[in-house]
Amino acid sequence: MGDTLSVTDNRTGKTYEIAIEDGAIRAMDLRQIRVDDDDYGLKTYDPAFKNTASCKSRITFIDGEKGILRYRGYPIEQLAEKSSYIEVAYLILNGELPTQSQLDIFAHEITHHSIIHEYIKRVIEGFRYDAHPMGMFVSMVGALSTFYPDAKKVHDPQSRQLQTYRLIAKVPTLAAFAYRHTIGMRFNYPDNDLSYAGNFLKMMFCMSNSYTPDPVLEKALDQLFILHADHEQNCSANAMRAVGSSEADPYCSTAAAAAALYGPLHGGANEAVLRMLNEIGSKDNVPSFVKRVKDGEVRLMGFGHRVYKSYDPRAKIIKKTAHEVFSVTGKNPLIDIALELERIALQEDYFVKRKLYPNVDFYSGIIYEAMGFPVSMFPVLFAIPRTSGWIAQWVEMITDSDQKIARPQQLYLGEDERDFVPMRNRGRSISKKLDAKAQSRKGARKK
Ligand code: CMC
Repeated sequence: MGDTLSVTDNRTGKTYEIAIEDGAIRAMDLRQIRVDDDDYGLKTYDPAFKNTASCKSRITFIDGEKGILRYRGYPIEQLAEKSSYIEVAYLILNGELPTQSQLDIFAHEITHHSIIHEYIKRVIEGFRYDAHPMGMFVSMVGALSTFYPDAKKVHDPQSRQLQTYRLIAKVPTLAAFAYRHTIGMRFNYPDNDLSYAGNFLKMMFCMSNSYTPDPVLEKALDQLFILHADHEQNCSANAMRAVGSSEADPYCSTAAAAAALYGPLHGGANEAVLRMLNEIGSKDNVPSFVKRVKDGEVRLMGFGHRVYKSYDPRAKIIKKTAHEVFSVTGKNPLIDIALELERIALQEDYFVKRKLYPNVDFYSGIIYEAMGFPVSMFPVLFAIPRTSGWIAQWVEMITDSDQKIARPQQLYLGEDERDFVPMRNRGRSISKKLDAKAQSRKGARKK
């Protein structure tokens, strides 16, 4: 007998043989398990997809127990040390590291699609000065759909390639323009002579015409971009695939993915961590804060992960990067609170039992703040590099013959069929007193 699962339905006494492939059974194989001909067939109930593989993927591998993360087989530690974000984006999208000429072409295309249509600036100018940059970012990525109607050709590989260049190239520009709008400063146009990270720093922070990014900060930001490039089937990748499965264009799907990222349980956690550290205020207050977490009053933001049940390998790398950044910017005092929080939390039974460790967002915000980014930009800083991952997930979905429009099942627990009730007959049994009150109020108004 090959890899199969024998299932006996104790309602009927029947036994079924179900194939196991790649460590999984096909949920559709359960449909044959029925009590009688009227039975729809057995379903699985899995809110939040805790144990359901929605796709086969070859992009990112995570072993949450061992703290392993690999893009296309390459360990994140090696990529963070030896690669660049643009090279990693190429790898994630194409499956292999580029040759020098492939990398040159890819980098050239990304660099030369970074300008945005002048009308997009008008979209930005329509936002209030205090609009959250992530809200603006989501809207502007969606707005790109109206500028590139050719993106609707989602089954055309050439069109997909072009939209890929455009999206990866334009997201830093949209992000920087959103920020400049919030501080009321003129927009800085992309500088084609700079690297992806260096150009972004210039578009963000250049106040006069000349700006040379600090090489340490440029390298650190590029490394942070590498660490955030993809993370398999998380909430935003799932949104990208689900929306893309209806054959919406990639700008709309990316906007949906960015919207999913915005929440504090996902990419908005870095912003929430900074606010939390500021609220704690000093190392002395850490024990009382940890007690509040244990009492269930608050969550320790930047801790815990659906998949990692040991240290998030990205957090380890970021912790090291923090010190390199501080050598240029000076130390962000919040790092001491964060380290103390980690030290105390990891000694506590509450966190040990639940396998809660620092995740990527625990230290990233401290670096961003030291570099001069305002807290509200942190989720946007996550979205910029994650765009390459979202596109890779989208392309994999669109070209996968197993995939169809995403459409989950439900377990319907509502009312059975019943007849429509005319207004005069509704709520009779609830309370005659309420009706009487309403009548007397009507009467009072007439007087
Ligand atoms: N602080 C305190 N308790 C926590 C935390 C936390 N950060 N995270 C999980 N728990 C507890 C939770 O209360 C539950 O306890 P119990 O079993 O007693 O009810 C248990 O641990 C399991 O938690 P869960 O909510 O069922 O786990 P999940 O897999 O659904 O959620 C998570 C994962 C990341 C949403 C969650 O850990 C969390 O809210 N963390 C804080 C937000 C955060 O840092 N998010 C960034 C994630 S990494 C970046 C990214 O890719 O998005």
